[in-house]
Amino acid sequence: MGSGLRGRHLLSMEDLSREEILEILDMASELKREQHVRRPHRILPGRTLALIFEKPSLRTRVTFEVAMRQLGGDTVYLTQQDIGLGVRETVADVARNLSRWIDGIAARVFAHRTVEALAQAAEVPVINALSDREHPCQALADLLTIREKLGTFQGAVVAWVGDGNNVCHSLLLGAAKVGLSLHVATPEGYEPDQAILEAARQHAARTGARLLLTHQPEEAVRGAQVVYTDVWTSMGQEAEQEKRRRAFAGFQVNQALLAHSPEALVMHCLPAHRGEEITGEVLDGPRSVVLDQAENRLHAQKALLALVLGG
Ligand code: CP
Ligand code: NVA
Repeated sequence: MGSGLRGRHLLSMEDLSREEILEILDMASELKREQHVRRPHRILPGRTLALIFEKPSLRTRVTFEVAMRQLGGDTVYLTQQDIGLGVRETVADVARNLSRWIDGIAARVFAHRTVEALAQAAEVPVINALSDREHPCQALADLLTIREKLGTFQGAVVAWVGDGNNVCHSLLLGAAKVGLSLHVATPEGYEPDQAILEAARQHAARTGARLLLTHQPEEAVRGAQVVYTDVWTSMGQEAEQEKRRRAFAGFQVNQALLAHSPEALVMHCLPAHRGEEITGEVLDGPRSVVLDQAENRLHAQKALLALVLGG
């Protein structure tokens, strides 16, 4: 019996139902167990994934490449310099050509509309490997990590401290769908996108997740089992770096903030800037699960690829 995910695009966490998220997480846990005992699971023989990256990456690129190899398939890595997406030829032409040779596309882009345009023209599934709006592959790995660490989503609270950015958006949607409560603390003017918040609120109303939006980091972390942060300046926002440093000054995840949630684990999607959004002491300390999170990128994406490209 094939998965309902077969042949589907993943541009946003909105593209997945609660059941589909759980299907991916369950398969990820299974593939993780198999990988840890080195039991082969070559479920995508002969399949090739194109990786289009307009921005740098360590985790996303390596986990997609390793995922495809462990599944028995292969990848082709293409930078903006290689293909000139939208410059040398249109985004649609790139998508149509790739569709004749490869079985799926994972794309890391500046503008979310680029990944949408790829999906519109492609005849193969397109996966958002990070856009300015969302990072759904990160959210899947984050949910897997949270479920592993806490055992459940029900009754659990994650505090997001920092920028209401792409990673925050995907986590908001994913958390609300699976019934995980999220407290989001951002400086004024850096709140999550209104439409994403509204969609998350609607999911939360159905699943019982509680969403709190505040400008006080202490309020967000109180009662949280996980405290999550990300860089203050995302890729593509470098011109705003100084302004952002000033705006986010009170939003560092440090020992003083964590004193308000003494048991909480610490998450960060990485890369991190020690001394800005998080202290080195906290990032490298005993409560940090950032490397488990990074490892889970591999397992979550393997499950996603197996379900979307398999069958
Ligand atoms: N977290 C994450 O997506 O890392 P990379 O930018 O290194 O891929
Ligand atoms: N918000 C960060 C995440 C990096 C993985 C960025 O977009 O640069």
